[in-house]
Amino acid sequence: MKITIVGAGAVGASCAEYIAIKNFASEVVLIDIKEDYAEGKAMDLMQTASLLGFDTRITGSTNDYSKTADSDIAVITSGIPRKPGMTREELIGINADIVKSVSSSILEHSPNAIVIVVSNPMDTMTYLVHKTTNLPKNKIIGMGGALDSARFKYRLSEALDCPASDVDGMVIGGHSDTGMVPLARLATRNSVPVTEFLSQDRLDQVTEDTKVGGATLTKMLGTSAWYAPGAAVSSLVQAIACDQKKMFPCSALLEGEYGLNDLCIGVPVILGKNGIEKIVELDLNEAEKAKMKESSQGVSGTNDLLDLKKVSG
Ligand code: 2OP
Repeated sequence: MKITIVGAGAVGASCAEYIAIKNFASEVVLIDIKEDYAEGKAMDLMQTASLLGFDTRITGSTNDYSKTADSDIAVITSGIPRKPGMTREELIGINADIVKSVSSSILEHSPNAIVIVVSNPMDTMTYLVHKTTNLPKNKIIGMGGALDSARFKYRLSEALDCPASDVDGMVIGGHSDTGMVPLARLATRNSVPVTEFLSQDRLDQVTEDTKVGGATLTKMLGTSAWYAPGAAVSSLVQAIACDQKKMFPCSALLEGEYGLNDLCIGVPVILGKNGIEKIVELDLNEAEKAKMKESSQGVSGTNDLLDLKKVSG
């Protein structure tokens, strides 16, 4: 199993580290435009192999996509991260051209790869890959909901004062500070609805803290987070590489599901060797449907900022 990670920055390198530690991939190629940067990160990571006990071979390349040839999965983390006070949507101008160029370079050498998009604004970047490549829709996956759900579970475990392993919860909708839809109604603590333990006010606070989870860390760190994003991506990669049939909220192209069309937005999907093997349609209540509709309008609005003619050129 060969995995390419484009962008050897904090998210990409963290993802490479977690994939290696899980030891399910034979090879990880880190690629970056910065001279020797990916090579250095790969060498540093390989020097942990004897300490952490993995056999995965991690190599780095300075923008030579021939080194990524025949990758099974390619992760796109390249582009600029946001600074404190910025929205993810403000990154579209620079990141759209980068993502379009990178996806083309990946597929030139790995035409059968499954592509996971991380670069922000992620839902729109995922949509861009659909519009500028001929990849079938099941092979283009946006990573946002897996991260947002991990933050949701963190906030729930904090409110419940319990281990995060006791908590289950999912965030669907757009990967944006205003568009996320944490499904508090369905969240559980060891199969018991969290509404049995938390007041509506406390649950509302958990929901709001989840939605700005990324912005909160960007303000604290001066740049976007990387550990949880890297870990979330590695979980999606593992589900595909190991054909796990696991369900994650991922940004997927909708063609009528949830009453939505022609956009990528976070919905529950089953991930396996074919990438998105099934989109799961939840029985949302009226309030949740309204939030998804509002979220889709936000994502479509960002999509409209894409000059598809320019980037498709
Ligand atoms: C985040 O929410 C980078 O969008 C990513 O941290």
